[in-house]
Amino acid sequence: MSSSAWWRDAAIYQVYPRSFRDSNGDGEGDLQGVIAGLPYLADLGIDAIWLSPFYKSPNKDGGYDVADPRDVDPRFGTLADAKELIEAAHSHGIKFIADIVPNHFSSDHIWFQEALNSPKGSVARSRFHFYDGRGENGEIPPNNWISIFRGPAWTRTPDGQWYLHLFDSSQPDLNWNNPDVAADFEKTLRFWLDLGVDGFRIDVAHGAVKENLLVDHRDPERLIDALRLDFLDISEEERAGLLSDVPFFDREGVHEVYRKWRSILNEYPGDRMTVAEAFVYPSSRAARYVREGELHQVFNFNFMMLGWDAATMRASIERTLAELVDVKAPATWVLNNHDTPRVVTRIGGARKARALAMLIHALPGGIYIYQGEELGLPSADLPDNARQDPAFIRSGGTDKGRDECRVPIPWDSKLPNYGYGTGTPWLPQPTDWAQYSMDVEAADPDSSWSLYKKSLTLRHSHPALGGEGVPTWIEAPAGIMHFTREPGLEVVVNTTDNQITVAVSGSSILLESAAGSSLQGGQLAIAANTTTWLQR
Ligand code: GLC
Repeated sequence: MSSSAWWRDAAIYQVYPRSFRDSNGDGEGDLQGVIAGLPYLADLGIDAIWLSPFYKSPNKDGGYDVADPRDVDPRFGTLADAKELIEAAHSHGIKFIADIVPNHFSSDHIWFQEALNSPKGSVARSRFHFYDGRGENGEIPPNNWISIFRGPAWTRTPDGQWYLHLFDSSQPDLNWNNPDVAADFEKTLRFWLDLGVDGFRIDVAHGAVKENLLVDHRDPERLIDALRLDFLDISEEERAGLLSDVPFFDREGVHEVYRKWRSILNEYPGDRMTVAEAFVYPSSRAARYVREGELHQVFNFNFMMLGWDAATMRASIERTLAELVDVKAPATWVLNNHDTPRVVTRIGGARKARALAMLIHALPGGIYIYQGEELGLPSADLPDNARQDPAFIRSGGTDKGRDECRVPIPWDSKLPNYGYGTGTPWLPQPTDWAQYSMDVEAADPDSSWSLYKKSLTLRHSHPALGGEGVPTWIEAPAGIMHFTREPGLEVVVNTTDNQITVAVSGSSILLESAAGSSLQGGQLAIAANTTTWLQR
């Protein structure tokens, strides 16, 4: 790996294939739909796509319940379609990142079926976490853990044993102490690497290894609150306390797994990469996943959780960069994904979301864009009877779940279902989404899509954008973030609702997230909730 490997400052676009584009009219997106969308993604200026799972799956958790990690679910197409997609992406100059799910399989996986049909204590059962229950007749689960989707983390089988599932009961957790598990994942990594994928996003990367499996947790309900990426009604202090020592997350043993995975990737040519979904706390724990000889990137969820506040964002940026410099890994910046509210909704409107995007696009390291973010889509309102997320179902509706950010995206304002496909979309699209359709936004120089395109283009052409290192911070009035990057870039972010005048050294405005600022005689009067890039 050279120090200028492509992924270190790439713009990576997350495709949630079920909601991207439906080529066969069944109301669900598919791999041919992704192929059809590639020219649009190339035009936008992204460097890579990461696809959420498209493997064989009963689809109880949007494909994160994998029944065969080395085959494609017929809903999405065939293995031949996957090969065609990887090649088509490459022919557009776009890298391809697959998703890998080491924490659990689907209960439809052949191993779990075998385990159910095998006796207590069998090898087949030891690939998962099967235990007897407590109580006189074993009727009480082995411990009090609850599922991240709510409800017990254990389900009882007909012969009386219980199995662990941190997510839905259809997602039994794998036991990484059984060598079959490691061997099977190595086979899966090689299978997709041989097909030409450029990397992997690792689902729940911090979860594979558990400790103290039979010990109760002191406050399992509150722990799950603290683990939710969209649950903000919890103080930093409480979150820190709860997340400092979780028996099923961030155990030392996971690092050994990833050191092995890294050595496998290193056997392949072409800077193959990994990115960890490891929501661990504090952020210094996340940096441990990208130490030398381990993974390449880790999503920066600690930054994603912050509100639109200059002082806390700056502190988080400085801390992230310092922690990652120590381990020689580049930073990542992410505003939302298929598990969180969309950034427009979370941060309080499209104007702030655009300014926030231009802030992270100017920072050193890589950026992630979740499909539809470039269109400025808000989370969609959905009637409860349309919701399908197991988090909604298992919580009895107290948790609304993640469907609102998974609604099929709009391509063409003039076509049925906004051009997503001819069949009825699996989640209903809002009636006012024509305004966000790609055709409308591409024709409007002031649209969110046009802003993303300009900013991604500048990230390729401007010598100070992308790359690594640390920005030079300039002291600024409250509510303003001000920094420079060499050569020649100055960035000013106004997080307040008022216009503020800032002394700058830049001589012209390169790009702004909204109109309304003016630059004269070294003074930038920057409009409310705006980010401005200046050329020095
Ligand atoms: C990850 C995925 C999420 C899924 C969960 C269980 O957090 O991003 O969508 O539900 O893992 O696999």
